[in-house]
Amino acid sequence: MVNPVRKAVFPVAGLGTRFLPATKVMPKEMLTIVDKPLIQYAVEEAMDAGIDEFVLVTGRGKHLMEDHFDHAYELEAILAERGKELELEAVERVAPDPGKMSYTRQRRPLGLGHAVWCARQFIAGEPFAVLLPDDLVQADQGCLRQMVTAYGEVGGNIVAVEDVPREHTDRYGILDVAEDDGRLARARGVVEKPAPSDAPSTLSIIGRYILQPEVLEYLNRHETGAGGEIQLTDAIENTVMDIPLHGLRFKGRRFDCGTKIGFVAANVAFASAREELRSEIRAELLGID
Ligand code: G1P
Repeated sequence: MVNPVRKAVFPVAGLGTRFLPATKVMPKEMLTIVDKPLIQYAVEEAMDAGIDEFVLVTGRGKHLMEDHFDHAYELEAILAERGKELELEAVERVAPDPGKMSYTRQRRPLGLGHAVWCARQFIAGEPFAVLLPDDLVQADQGCLRQMVTAYGEVGGNIVAVEDVPREHTDRYGILDVAEDDGRLARARGVVEKPAPSDAPSTLSIIGRYILQPEVLEYLNRHETGAGGEIQLTDAIENTVMDIPLHGLRFKGRRFDCGTKIGFVAANVAFASAREELRSEIRAELLGID
């Protein structure tokens, strides 16, 4: 029996420079895909996977996200008064149960590993999930839920993976694969952003992790890695002799919403997947040169 995963960490302190001026005041995780902010997709994916405690590691724009996940009494009252039931439900559904969502500030942008370390008191010795809202997965069954199933089979540390073109290995954490059954790959190591010529494989981490609390021991040391940042990948690598590491090839399509192309493509794909929007979206796109 593995310890269940009840907690999730959402690192949301990035500057979002690729999306300026949209992200001048608003955190990039509040950018919308169709009609929902990226952070809400990530929180809903976690809820669907059985997570019931959430921590957002924020930088700027904390208040916007705090308000987003709170009740909006005035708005809700007006929607109720006007009989806008669907809209009211969409607004009410956003708020997790009281006390289930917390916020902590990263204060300085020292890397993804540092952001996770900032959530150490929340993690408090339990296994935990990490979701990077930039990576949006369109799937019949949520990506994290698929990972929880795999975790029930093999335990340890699990990352969501997909194959990338070799020339892109320097954008990702890359697994050094020991065994691979086509769905789960057991890794003997993992390396952050290797040059294509040095990459041990092309199996790359996308922003979903299930991790054991032991990874924090490395993060406590504040050692820097690739790009001079404190890397979560290095913390996972550091535990690999003691804690099995598996990559799950999830079923679904991942969009890198940290890039303009990925963000626009996700909007089209998510809109096209909606019954009420599909045909009009397609007609509109066909009309664009
Ligand atoms: C981070 C991780 C990297 C992972 C990637 C997934 O990199 O450090 O290992 O592959 O997310 O999106 P970043 O995109 O923050 O540079």
